[in-house]
Amino acid sequence: MKAKEGVVNILNKVLTVDLTATNQYFVHAKMCENWGYERLHHKVRERSIDEMKDAEKLIEHILYLEGVPNVQRLNTVHVGETVPEQLKLDLQAEQEMLSLLSEGVAHCANVGDFTTRHMLEDMVKDVDAHIDWIEVQLETIKQVGVENYLAEQIKTES
Ligand SMILES: [Fe+2]
Ligand SMILES: [Fe+2]
Repeated sequence: MKAKEGVVNILNKVLTVDLTATNQYFVHAKMCENWGYERLHHKVRERSIDEMKDAEKLIEHILYLEGVPNVQRLNTVHVGETVPEQLKLDLQAEQEMLSLLSEGVAHCANVGDFTTRHMLEDMVKDVDAHIDWIEVQLETIKQVGVENYLAEQIKTES
């Protein structure tokens, strides 16, 4: 199916942000593992894999629309040196994703591509959930202090 004006371009932009997030979260997860924060490692790694699944969906959809998926392009991967820094940088990545998706949803409505619009709206739901999770972590850190928060992360999920 031929894509409507500008849709492939938007999907490729979303793909770039997703591939960047996949890498960023993957490195953050590995750093958490290295520090011994087993619980956090699992959570963040899961998020990285979620972004990779989004990338897969985007690539499939771009090909379906007879476009060329751009997998070479990557934005800057922002690596935090501490857990709170990582959380803040990941929050920024999700916020960037949210504004790009909102743009995309509006554009798809304009050109009458309701399939792509629906797909982007589904991704908005995931971003909302991810932002909520990060905000809860940051709030917990604020309330109990970073040492107490990190002490909880050493244990594995039971
Ligand atoms: Fe995503
Ligand atoms: Fe996410």
